[in-house]
Amino acid sequence: MRVAIGTDHGGFALKAEILAEVRSLGHDVIDKGTDSTAAVDYPDFAEAVGLSVASGEAERGIVLCGSGVGASIAACKIPGVRAAVCHDTYSAHQGVEHDDMNVLTIGARIVGPELARELVRAFLGAKFSGEERHERRLKKVLAIEARYTREKENV
Ligand code: RB5
Repeated sequence: MRVAIGTDHGGFALKAEILAEVRSLGHDVIDKGTDSTAAVDYPDFAEAVGLSVASGEAERGIVLCGSGVGASIAACKIPGVRAAVCHDTYSAHQGVEHDDMNVLTIGARIVGPELARELVRAFLGAKFSGEERHERRLKKVLAIEARYTREKENV
């Protein structure tokens, strides 16, 4: 699948490992930057990855920042993006299987390269289960998104 990847300076230390892992799993990388340790702003990269996923350019996204928190908050502002910071492999696959998570965020100041690679494998190897209860809950999440997106447009 096509995987959009972005990082700020706080996540840059893990970028090379993540790119290599995604490619080694046979996926195509869409690199949304950044390309150095120079200080940048995580929302710019979370937005680039989120838009890539929301538009269909990429099927999944991965965003790295220092903690993974800012990246997930920013990416979730884009309708259609379901991002979460996952620092354990259970969440990294269960978030896809139950919640249809489409963007994984990782804090490069929290996890090391080996765990980061395992998180990526768990995330990209997982599929939404499609079970009725998960479909039902996902529809409710999408309804919340639609409700408040519409309300903002009407302000
Ligand atoms: C950058 O110093 C840091 O704030 C950022 O990478 C991230 O951790 C935000 O959530």
